[in-house]
This record gives sequence, C-alpha cells and structure tokens, in this order.
Amino acid sequence: MKPTSTDDIRQSYLDFFESKGHTIIPGAPLIPENDPTVLFTTAGMHPLVPYLLGEPHPGGKRLADCQKCIRTQDIDEVGDESHLTMFEMLGNWSLGDYFKDEAIKMSFEFLTEVLEIPKERLAITCFRGDDDAPKDEEAAKFWMGVGIPEERIGFLPKEDNWWEPAGQTGPCGPDTEMFVWMQEDDPKGNPETHPYGWMEVWNDVFMQYNKQPRSSGNRDDNRSQQQSRNRDSEIAASGEAGDEMEFVPLKQKNVDTGMGLERVAAVMQECGNVYETDCLQSIMDRVKSLADAEGLKHQRIITDHIKAATFIIADGILPSNVDQGYVLRRLIRRAIRSGRYLKIEHDGTFTPTIADEVIKQYSNIYGNLKSKEKEIRDALSNEELQFGKTLKEGMKQFEKAVEKASTEIDGVTAFHLYDTYGFPLELTKELAEEEGLKVDEKGFKQSFEEHQKLSRAGAGQRFSGGLADQSSETTKLHTATHLLNAALRKVLGDHVYQKGSNITADRLRFDFSHPEKMTKEQIAEVERLVNEAIEADMPISFHVTDVDGAKKEGAIGVFDDRYGNEVKVYVVGDFSCEICGGPHVASTGMIGKFKIKKEESSSSGVRRIKAIVEGGGENIEIAEEDK
Ligand code: ALA
Repeated sequence: MKPTSTDDIRQSYLDFFESKGHTIIPGAPLIPENDPTVLFTTAGMHPLVPYLLGEPHPGGKRLADCQKCIRTQDIDEVGDESHLTMFEMLGNWSLGDYFKDEAIKMSFEFLTEVLEIPKERLAITCFRGDDDAPKDEEAAKFWMGVGIPEERIGFLPKEDNWWEPAGQTGPCGPDTEMFVWMQEDDPKGNPETHPYGWMEVWNDVFMQYNKQPRSSGNRDDNRSQQQSRNRDSEIAASGEAGDEMEFVPLKQKNVDTGMGLERVAAVMQECGNVYETDCLQSIMDRVKSLADAEGLKHQRIITDHIKAATFIIADGILPSNVDQGYVLRRLIRRAIRSGRYLKIEHDGTFTPTIADEVIKQYSNIYGNLKSKEKEIRDALSNEELQFGKTLKEGMKQFEKAVEKASTEIDGVTAFHLYDTYGFPLELTKELAEEEGLKVDEKGFKQSFEEHQKLSRAGAGQRFSGGLADQSSETTKLHTATHLLNAALRKVLGDHVYQKGSNITADRLRFDFSHPEKMTKEQIAEVERLVNEAIEADMPISFHVTDVDGAKKEGAIGVFDDRYGNEVKVYVVGDFSCEICGGPHVASTGMIGKFKIKKEESSSSGVRRIKAIVEGGGENIEIAEEDK
C-alpha cells in the first residue's frame, strides 16, 4: 500500500534506499559542528561535505537519511502556501559510486512504484547549459529512457537547475528536478513552458565540481591539498562562474539528492499546501483552538516558527542577540506578534502550549524533543515574558514618535519599531491611524531593504571559507581540537565532554562541560600538554568500527543518537582517541605552536576556550585509514 502519512513516507524512503544498497545514517543536529560557514544545517548534503570532497565515509559509498533543515532566507515569506523555515529533507547519496543513470532510475521507481504517483503527473527540468558546463542532454535522455515524454522535460538555467551549498564555495553541479502537477485539470507542458501548477518535490544533483575562489590564496591551498591526496588526478579549471570563481572537477563524481518531506506529504495527502498535512495540521489546530480571531497567515506563522524554535532549542540554542540565538529570538517574537493578531490570550504564555503539540507530533522520530521538553518550555516562556516587556517599551517609543510627527511617522522610525521592538508595519499603521497619522511606507521599505542587503552581505562573509573547504588551516585546528579535548580531560578530569566546536581558518573554539573557571595554572598545563603532543610528532590515523566497539576502546565522543552504526575513530598516538568524521593532519608535528587565547564561560556549567595555532606551514598531509 502506498504511504500517505508523513511518518510512513519517511520510512518508505529509507526502506527503499536501504533495499538499493544504501546505509541509512542518522540525520545531523540543526547546528553544524566544526563548520562556521552557515548558522544552520540547510540541506542533507551539508554534514556530508568532507565525504563529497573525498574523505571515506564509514557507511560506505551509498548513504541515505532524513535531515532536519532550517533555511532562514525566506523567513518573511512564511505564511504562504509553500514556504517553511524548518523542513525535513529526505536524501540519498552516491559518493563516487552510481551517477546519473542509476540515480534517475531510482528516483523514478520511488515516485511511481512506491508513492504510486502516475507518471503522467510528473515533469522534469534539466540544466540548460552555459559557459561552465554543457546542457544536460544526458539526464534528459535517461528520463526519456524510463518513460517521461519529451514534452514533460524542460531545460532551465543555473538559477533553477544548478545546485551548490548556501556558502559560496563547495561541491556543486547541474541538477535535475522532479515536479508533480497539483491542479485538478490535465497537466500542461513542463515547468519551463508552463511554470504554474507544478510543485517541485525532489532534486537530484550531479556533483562533479568544487566551486572555489580563482584568485585568492586559498586556491593554491586547495589545489596542493587535493593534489597531495590524489596525485594522479589532473586538476583543471573548467570555466568561470563569475569574476573570481572556478569549477574544479572533483576527484569523485557524486550524487546528492533532496526530497522535501512536507511537500511529498502534501502530494500524497492530496491537500494543496504543506500546512494541511498530518503533522502540521495538528499544530495549526492547536493554534486555532487558542485564537479569538481569524487569520490564516498568522496561524501558519505561529505553526512554522514555534515548530522551528522547538527543534532549535532542543539542539542546544537559547534566544540571544547573536548567530543562531538571534534567529531563534526572531522566530519566537514573530510568532508572538502573530499571536496578538489572533487575539490569543496573553495573560500567561501560549508558545509553550504550541511546543507541546510539536513535541507530541515529532518526538517518536526526534527523541531529544521529549528529553529537552523542560528546556524548550522554559526558553519559550522566558522569551515570551521578556518580549511582553519589549512591546511595552516599543509603545513608549511609538508615543514619542507621535509627539514629533506632524502628518506621518517617518520610515526610519517605523523600521526601528519593527526591527528593535518587533512592531509589524501593520500594527504601527493601525496605531498611527488612531492618532490621525499616516506612516511613510516607502521610507519603511527602503530601510527594510537596506537592512536586508546588510544581512545578506554579512551572511556572504560568513559563508566564505572554513572546514567546508577543508583548508590546511582548518584541518590543523581540527586536530588541535582533539589534542585540546584530551589535554582538558587529563588536567581537569573525566567530567569534561565536548559541548560544541566551531572552527574558522583563524581559530578554534571549543565548548566543554566544566563547572568553574579554569585557573591560570590549569590553562598553562593544558597548553603545555598540547604542545608536548605536537612536539612529539605523533602519527594520526583512523579506523572504522561500531559505536560499541568505539566505546570499548575508550574513544570519546558525543554519544547521542547522531552516529550511525559505523563510526570513524581517530587515534593520535597514545594521547587521544575520539570519534570523528575527519579530516585530520597525518601527524601532530604539522600543527605548529598551540596557544590558548581565551577561557570564558559559555553557558551554565559549560566553559569555552578559543585557541590558535601558528607556524605549522601550508603543506600538510591528511591522516589515512590505519590498515
Ligand atoms: N542539496 C540539494 C538540495 O538541497 C539536493 O536541493
């Protein structure tokens, strides 16, 4: 029987790809580890970047999973039919194994035989071709081979049929996208010739290039590193993407696919939009039961935002004014504002009640929602209470603006109320009208767009570099992090566990459990031990084992549900033994001098160390499997 519920679709996908020889791996947390290039995990491929670039994966060359993802760029559009801040992505990967032909055959088989979507309701798009890569006639040929008629296959440019990660560098390539006809009448054309009526459900990316800066110093790092790993392969530029980027063929051709679970659920449950699918509908119902006014868009905003917030808090983030914490804060506050529109009673707090429903719907799959229930409820209710106060302050600001205004509230003030006090423009307009004033909406829009430009520029900077492109600097710092972890345990004791790690090309940042500030002597001793291990030039290698085996040999690791059956254990001489995906340098001598720059509190019971390495040189070798 064809699957219809969200849970059944997820399971059938994993079962199907398991039957096709894929190892099912657990999804990663929402907060990327050791990757400063993005704030959140944005796609299933994201935690797999090192393996797409050539690191061997312990699960082999065929993998599949379900990955929770957050995409914040569309946050202001949530509330329409299809945009979600958080969604689940089903994905299958070939790491240098099958390529276009087999990927397309499996996609087609899953869509038409497991989901039983009639092939007449399907359409396909392929890459149109440009200076960087040729038109993907090959993919189109394979689609026709399985029975998709030519009129259902469109060709679109890079904006549509090329995929690369959110950062500006990384593995990428042309893709082919699968669409389902969502209207009641007969399907028309394809998304190129008839863009309306089709909903994209799945994307198969043929990752054959690494996009990287053409002219920066990084280029040579990347090249020498790739060359040292794969001396036989010719690395050649394959054309220009823009002024400064080049597409370097990867040493292995990969397939990376992503299927939107909520969208497929909307197809299978024959509802026009993602909010009416089983899991989200029950959250919407909870919202409606609390509301005293109508407003579909606001119901959807609360549903999406509190769901995303619940998952983010469960993965260890609290509301704050920076990074992930800031995104979380915006989500919660936006939901609270929508709560006001719906006249949800505000004496107490309503967001924890919505989170209860999220936990109920999803904790069978995401167990940490249940174990973190208290943290989730507390964080939401604290934020809601605090925002109640901010709203009051905002009202004071508004009254001041009214005193100054003659006929209208200027755009900068309206934006300030929106951005700092969380006043939607509509609220400011309503309030202004009561005072006989207008709002300069054009000015508001201008300020809003300027602000967006700035955030995008900020995001762009964040996206450049990091472990995602595996530079020699990040690799050295990554190995230094293992040494630091081991040294902390030797100096402070076995209660020290990794709580977070974030590496840029300039520094490592390591969070660990420890109840009090470290003394100067302890810091000096940790630094000394790490440098001693570096000077001893200890060899580093890894082996693949299962989680129990890793525990038995004393490997340290986070040991929650993030690991698959098979894990890689990196061993540094007799100094450190840790579960990790890699990559690492081949011997500690390559790291250079290690220096702790700062020891500070991260959160209650968690300390944070920032450290750098110096003078290790650019030419490193990568640790290999211990055979
Ligand atoms: N990584 C591809 C996507 O997110 C599959 O669409």
